[in-house]
Amino acid sequence: MSENQQTQHAAIVPRENLDFGLDGDIPKYWMAGDPFKTRFFDAMSTLFPMGEKFFIMSVREFQAETTDPTLKQEVRDFIRQEAQHTLVHKQFNDRLKQQGIDVDMLEKEEADFLFNQLPKFTNRTQRLAATAALEHLTSMMCTCFFERRDLLEQSDPRIRAMYAWHAIEEVEHKAVAFDVLTKVAKASWFRRNFSMFIVSFGFPFRVAGILDYMLRCDGFSLRQRLGMWMKGLWWFYKPGGLFMPTLGYYFAYYKPGFHPWKVKEMPSYGKWVEVFKETGDPIAAGNALHAAGL
Ligand SMILES: [Fe+2]
Ligand SMILES: [Fe+2]
Repeated sequence: MSENQQTQHAAIVPRENLDFGLDGDIPKYWMAGDPFKTRFFDAMSTLFPMGEKFFIMSVREFQAETTDPTLKQEVRDFIRQEAQHTLVHKQFNDRLKQQGIDVDMLEKEEADFLFNQLPKFTNRTQRLAATAALEHLTSMMCTCFFERRDLLEQSDPRIRAMYAWHAIEEVEHKAVAFDVLTKVAKASWFRRNFSMFIVSFGFPFRVAGILDYMLRCDGFSLRQRLGMWMKGLWWFYKPGGLFMPTLGYYFAYYKPGFHPWKVKEMPSYGKWVEVFKETGDPIAAGNALHAAGL
């Protein structure tokens, strides 16, 4: 892709006050009635409020030196989008609290690591490199999961729509942290890739720990959980499973000359934008995105 094509990417549009009906009667296991699959996505949801706060802070640490007007505006829009994601996921996480999940404890642990421990042994460029890596993993999941109709076929349309909205906005701002990292912080190829390597282990382990904690809260015995993990790991890593189709997207990050707009587009992004523009309804847009999948 040429430099010119790179600039013709989706605009970052902060969308506010969206209503997903999260106070409605949503099944506890909203994803195909499956505890493991549901709790996998729920575990990620508990990480968003503190994680997104960390992303915003990492980018803000370079805001004064970000002088390019386009990038400056993109940073502002990125912050607005992430702040909205946090608001909506907090609403969703309140549902998890009602189910007996100690979300406050999980957030406290995460906040202690991100805001107390991590700054003791990292500098601001390293923290921004971690943010850019996590933004790549997020946009990878958003781009690759939502082209697969089978994955979210039997999910509650409200939760699916919440994730669809989050996904399309993650795709819109996927290059912001990376651009600040490379253009403002001027991080080296080694720095960004080393951070990706670390994050690629740390993030899945944290999600797995929370997922197992949630299944324990749900009352599943060790034996039951072992069975779920066997099936779940197969669901993750079997040929054509959840993560196998993401590999090309993932490894693209390590290539010299990589830029987030050089990897594949989210297939049904335009459909979401079109339906949301017509209806103003994020659930209708989420359904359209799902229907447009493969
Ligand atoms: Fe987000
Ligand atoms: Fe993001």
